[in-house]
Amino acid sequence: MDSYDPGTPQTAWWLPQIEERGETILVDGIVRPAAWPPPRLRLAAGGKPVPGVDYLELPGEAIGLRGMMPVGALFDGAEEAVLRLVTEDGKPLRDWDQFHLARPGSFAAVPLPPAKLTNRAIWLSPRVFDKWGYALKRKLEEALTPHLHAPWASLRLLDWGCGCGRLAKYLSGQGSYTGIDIDAEAIAWCRANIPNGSFELQGLEPRTQFEAGRFDVAIGISIFTHLREEDQFAWLKELARVVKPGGVVAVSVNGATSLFNASYPPSVREALKTRGFCDTGIENTLKGVTSDDSYYRNIYHTHDYIRERWSEWFEILAILPAFVGNMQDMILLRPRR
Ligand SMILES: C[S@@+](CC[C@H](N)C(=O)[O-])C[C@H]1O[C@@H](n2cnc3c(N)ncnc32)[C@H](O)[C@@H]1O
Repeated sequence: MDSYDPGTPQTAWWLPQIEERGETILVDGIVRPAAWPPPRLRLAAGGKPVPGVDYLELPGEAIGLRGMMPVGALFDGAEEAVLRLVTEDGKPLRDWDQFHLARPGSFAAVPLPPAKLTNRAIWLSPRVFDKWGYALKRKLEEALTPHLHAPWASLRLLDWGCGCGRLAKYLSGQGSYTGIDIDAEAIAWCRANIPNGSFELQGLEPRTQFEAGRFDVAIGISIFTHLREEDQFAWLKELARVVKPGGVVAVSVNGATSLFNASYPPSVREALKTRGFCDTGIENTLKGVTSDDSYYRNIYHTHDYIRERWSEWFEILAILPAFVGNMQDMILLRPRR
């Protein structure tokens, strides 16, 4: 889906539950097919259906997938397994839907954040939050590497809106990593628990403490999904300032897949058709966290809007639908300077 078109949704799927249970990994997923009857779909690793997973079809609604995946069969001696949803002939259902899993026991040095903070950031339990963190880090590496002019180990990276360190845990060991967030408790947790990173509390004003061109890459996962239009413009300008010429900015937005998953609320759909941007109102998860409870909102974008309005500050390198959590679209940008 290259541009916003609510008439032709693509199948959406995601894994709200995935965590280790002894020698198995518990998985609980939802597939929302674009059309019924859908093709026969299976969760696969290395092109082969994963054993131990059952599928429950609720016709016209969704397919549930649930099971205990045996670690031995899943990893087959490797450090990483990559899950995909495939059709009967083994073809992946859509681009960028891969879910990378690290072998259980890796990366155990950094503890899991408390549930209060993981829920506040993305409404997931700590163990699932952690699995999604590794998966997202690996996807980002694959998507960004073709646009970078230097190895990851030499990059100066800004994680704008780092929350309680979903990416920091996996990115802070390579290159120089700086995380900023308006949530003081999340920043305090990251400082106390994640080595090799620098974490700064950010005010609500769209201006950071960093000099122009300080970073090679800025990542903002699910931040523009929460900002008013004028705050969005101000932050686009700030990101274009702090990232060096030739650098990359990678930010996610709610696009057609998020809208499909929300069953196309008519008011949102209408606003997107006419304006390309829709603010559905206050998101309460940050209530009491900053000085302004109306700051944090729920926002949808169309790709046409992004191409037209964001081009003032950025060249649009790529738009990758349903990239983050198989839901939010990823926008890769290069500052125009
Ligand atoms: C949906 S959460 C995502 C957190 C993190 N990026 C992740 O993917 O786990 C959005 C985060 O952005 C932070 N945030 C919102 N507006 C911000 C701003 N203007 N500057 C920095 N952080 C912001 C929130 O406090 C919250 O931690």
